[in-house]
Amino acid sequence: MTAKNMEELVALAKRRGFIFQSSDIYGGLQGVYDYGPLGVELKNNLKAAWWRAMVYDRDDVEGLDAAILTNPTTLRYSGHEATFTDPLVDCRACKSRWRADHLNGDQCPNCGSNDLTEPRPFNLMFKTAVGPVDDGGSFAYLRPETAQAIFTNFKNILDSTSPKLPFGIAQIGKAFRNEITPRNFIFRVREFEQMELEFFVKPGEDEHWHEQWVAERLSWWAAQGVNETNLELYHVPAEELAHYSKSTVDLMYRFPHGLEELEGIANRTDYDLGSHTKNQKDYDIQANVQPNTDANAKLAIQDLESKAWQIPYVIEPSAGVDRGVLAVMNEAYTIERLDDGKERTVMRFKPHLAPIKVAILPLKRNHEGIVTKAKELKKTLQKLGLGRILYEDTGNIGKGYRRHDEVGTPLCVTVDFQTIEEDDTVTIRNRDTMAQERVHTSDLSAYVSQYMSQ
Ligand code: GAP
Repeated sequence: MTAKNMEELVALAKRRGFIFQSSDIYGGLQGVYDYGPLGVELKNNLKAAWWRAMVYDRDDVEGLDAAILTNPTTLRYSGHEATFTDPLVDCRACKSRWRADHLNGDQCPNCGSNDLTEPRPFNLMFKTAVGPVDDGGSFAYLRPETAQAIFTNFKNILDSTSPKLPFGIAQIGKAFRNEITPRNFIFRVREFEQMELEFFVKPGEDEHWHEQWVAERLSWWAAQGVNETNLELYHVPAEELAHYSKSTVDLMYRFPHGLEELEGIANRTDYDLGSHTKNQKDYDIQANVQPNTDANAKLAIQDLESKAWQIPYVIEPSAGVDRGVLAVMNEAYTIERLDDGKERTVMRFKPHLAPIKVAILPLKRNHEGIVTKAKELKKTLQKLGLGRILYEDTGNIGKGYRRHDEVGTPLCVTVDFQTIEEDDTVTIRNRDTMAQERVHTSDLSAYVSQYMSQ
């Protein structure tokens, strides 16, 4: 029995310390969430899995961690100032505001009135004052996507790493959008994180690479425990494409509230690098700077054979971290009926995503020998570098197993009298099968490493 109900997920997320409404004690802030002790581990593990696949497992991708505050000129020339909008309507009766394309017909979802304004474009970018004088003259945007800083750093990275096409630049970080109606828990929020790769290719090879990346990304989500039957491809029709895109394939996931976008994979052509190249020259002229006419100064790359400078095309797999967390939590959430008629809730996270890898439970919390041994084992396992190993001395092993099922801890290790008085073995209890086996402590590290690598 698998629960696919948002309320249950939200309740578990709060109860067990995965995700909280931000500024909770002051009534919250709409569309903003905080990740608690287990949420931060899960989120970090998902980001680490993406970084491993995108950067460490390949030799054609470099990483970047750029600033959130963005010079408005970047976002003017990227097209975001003019076009990064959603259609906004007001209800004249109850004064609520809605996204026109999210309405069911022409009725206000709040009061049912049909007295709505015509849709008008609402820019989603947050602005903030820079420096001590807030006169509107000196401001920055909070980036609406991480991608632009990859484009504006293109030449810095080219000059410092000398890559050859095709190659990519990967970045994980916060993005901000003033969504008109944030909703569905962490699905549509105003502050979120993206995992974005800009993969630069020769023009003409873009369509091949686009297909390639769609396939790669599908198999990566499967490796995170997302069932392929819950994923669908959506070929975005021309009238819905973002201003920079020649074609986009969205990976749609069956979230608890419906089938919606988890990740977008766009063919951005040479739109961004081309636009920043052209406009940077115009900017230099306006700013009275001698324009740099050297081809080398452009956001272009030189073909080693023909020596021609070329602006590459770019394929962009762009995934939302928060939507990813929601998807893997939804996939993991399982309610099982046991032989004795009772139910247990289990988060069946893949081991590499589990917030706690191993819980070490001493049978008696006041027994010096058992406690010392359990703490020693925690230290030994922690050194493996697999993630969080938790020593937990609540003294009730059965309850401990139940709680760790609910937070998705793959293995619990119990230290008891047999361990210290007889044979130096511990009980390993498996989250998924509930099977228990005795393992010698000298074999514990190898056992855990092997289990976590699946
Ligand atoms: N650089 C391309 C880009 O930003 P996007 O489709 O607007 O494309 C990419 O965003 C991903 O970021 C989405 O697939 C989604 O997972 C995530 N995302 C976008 N807006 C979001 C929001 N308001 N809340 C949570 N995640 C969001």
